[in-house]
Amino acid sequence: MKPRILITGASGFVGYHLVETALDAGMEVYAAVRASSNVSHLKHLPVNFVYPDFSSKDDLKDLIVKYGFDYIIHGAGITKAKSLDEYNRVNAGYTLNLAVAAGESRVPIKKFVFISSLAAVGPIAYNASWPVPDVEKPQPVTSYGKSKLLAEEYLGVISDVPWVILRPTAVYGPRERDLFVLFKTYRRGLEPYMGKGAQWLSFVYVKDLAQAALLALTAPVSGTVYNISDGNRYDRYALADVIKQYLKLHTFRVHLPLPVIRTVATIMEMVSRGAPLLNRDKLNELTAENWDCNIEKIRQDLGYRPVYNLEKGMRETLDWYTTNKWF
Ligand SMILES: NC(=O)c1ccc[n+]([C@@H]2O[C@H](COP(=O)([O-])OP(=O)(O)OC[C@H]3O[C@@H](n4cnc5c(N)ncnc54)[C@H](OP(=O)(O)O)[C@@H]3O)[C@@H](O)[C@H]2O)c1
Repeated sequence: MKPRILITGASGFVGYHLVETALDAGMEVYAAVRASSNVSHLKHLPVNFVYPDFSSKDDLKDLIVKYGFDYIIHGAGITKAKSLDEYNRVNAGYTLNLAVAAGESRVPIKKFVFISSLAAVGPIAYNASWPVPDVEKPQPVTSYGKSKLLAEEYLGVISDVPWVILRPTAVYGPRERDLFVLFKTYRRGLEPYMGKGAQWLSFVYVKDLAQAALLALTAPVSGTVYNISDGNRYDRYALADVIKQYLKLHTFRVHLPLPVIRTVATIMEMVSRGAPLLNRDKLNELTAENWDCNIEKIRQDLGYRPVYNLEKGMRETLDWYTTNKWF
């Protein structure tokens, strides 16, 4: 019998790739989505759709008992919200509900993988290097990061389900929408930056992240937390350079003054009805000096070997956007 896996957030960018990877690995996939989710891009795949109410532990427990899942990957989460409360409710509260439901179900779940974020630990100083991943002290600089850290703390006290936490840095790849806005700006000839300060950034291609999640499901580890990137750090211009070179673009580089951007972010917060694309909280993330991370632990424990660096992953991504007429 095929192993059964529940993947939450299956309708999202990362979720789609988690679904594909689990199917390729021969699993029977249950895609947890909402009635309002756009699932048109999943319709051609042999997946079973389920519609749990994440605010109800009982509803989640019923679902887990009904299907007797072997594995769960919890990828559902919000990256834009108006308040810390909203982030906490979804990113931390729903994670707790699902993990508690999994434990109370008494279904012998082999692994619960939670997709957290490097934002849960936060950036480091420009000249710093990452300490041994186990001993770093998390210092999230955004409400999003704080909610992911809270989710990790909730999971930390769950003892009746074997869990693993993955903390990906910025993820890119086919179907990604936020960085895509930036790529379109480059294509229009503009290369904007926030402030003049130097930055180190890190990235991971979505297919490498999905492979890492698969390794975490089957490896004999639990109660552990892993950072995930492609193993490199990049200066702030590397992303645009890779794209410009591949698409043969010429751009005009502009460094927007930080006080101006802060004013714009404040105005966007005031006028936006929902979660604004840019706010002062998000600026803490976008202007941080160093998002490098150490992936030694996942290399050693799980044998994670990223296949894509930024250049290789970006080429595949840009080809996908072009073929699928996103540009
Ligand atoms: N993309 C990155 O760079 C990155 C980096 C680190 C960590 N992560 C984490 O990876 C996960 C997936 O992110 P993504 O980039 O794929 O985002 P995404 O495309 O926005 O997908 C988010 C998924 O979560 C679901 N979701 C959101 N709010 C929900 C709610 N209240 N109830 C139930 N489901 C809800 C969405 O469902 P709908 O389709 O119905 O909206 C969607 O399936 C998130 O947990 C995120 O924090 C992402």
